[in-house]
Amino acid sequence: MERTWILQEAEAFVRQELGGDSSGHDVWHIERVRRMAERIARVEGADVFVCSLAALLHDIPDEKLNESPEAGMKKLTNWLDAHDLDADTRAHLLEIITTMSFKGGNRPPVRTLEGRIVQDADRLDAIGALGIARTFAYSGAKGQLSHDPTLPLRTDMTADEYRKGKSTAVNHFYEKLLLLKALMNTDAAKQIAEERHRYMEEFLERFHAEWEGQM
Ligand code: ADP
Ligand code: NI
Repeated sequence: MERTWILQEAEAFVRQELGGDSSGHDVWHIERVRRMAERIARVEGADVFVCSLAALLHDIPDEKLNESPEAGMKKLTNWLDAHDLDADTRAHLLEIITTMSFKGGNRPPVRTLEGRIVQDADRLDAIGALGIARTFAYSGAKGQLSHDPTLPLRTDMTADEYRKGKSTAVNHFYEKLLLLKALMNTDAAKQIAEERHRYMEEFLERFHAEWEGQM
């Protein structure tokens, strides 16, 4: 009962915070990550409650949605404070959410099974058909081109270059999305990623062929 209530509270909080977002963090992204995390958690024998709650809250402190990383963390810790979680669960949730981001290449790897599962679920949502859709939607929202054949396909863009909008949707596949398959933690996620990865490769092959007028 209490856990059900906390999950409902988290759903409402996320709807309120991310409801209007169109940068790829809308509530449906959260819903998909949650469902996928629960599915993997069952296969892997992990704590489903922790996975659900971490998935629901994982984008709350994202710097893209907050004035500063600190402001985002404050939003998250305020919510946790108001929801009477035991100290271990609270610490576990905070650890998962702060360490799971891809941007944290220099941060320590996610330590617990639950963290690795939520990270996998989030990364799975960035690849395959959904990943393709989100990437073009994000690029459009940022005013980036879909593709620019005069730009080399780069895998080494810096964060500053991203912000200056020098990337394209297609480039994002090479700089990030095609690298995600190799980063999956759990066997269940690796399997799902295989299929989704292949679909992206087919899409890109076809995209370039059509671009060149070959198809
Ligand atoms: P999350 O925090 O959910 O893992 P991100 O904040 O990294 O995701 O990105 C949200 C969505 O926007 C993802 O689908 C991602 O691939 C896409 N995206 C992020 N950065 C770019 C970019 N520079 N160009 C195109 N798409 C992007
Ligand atoms: Ni996410």
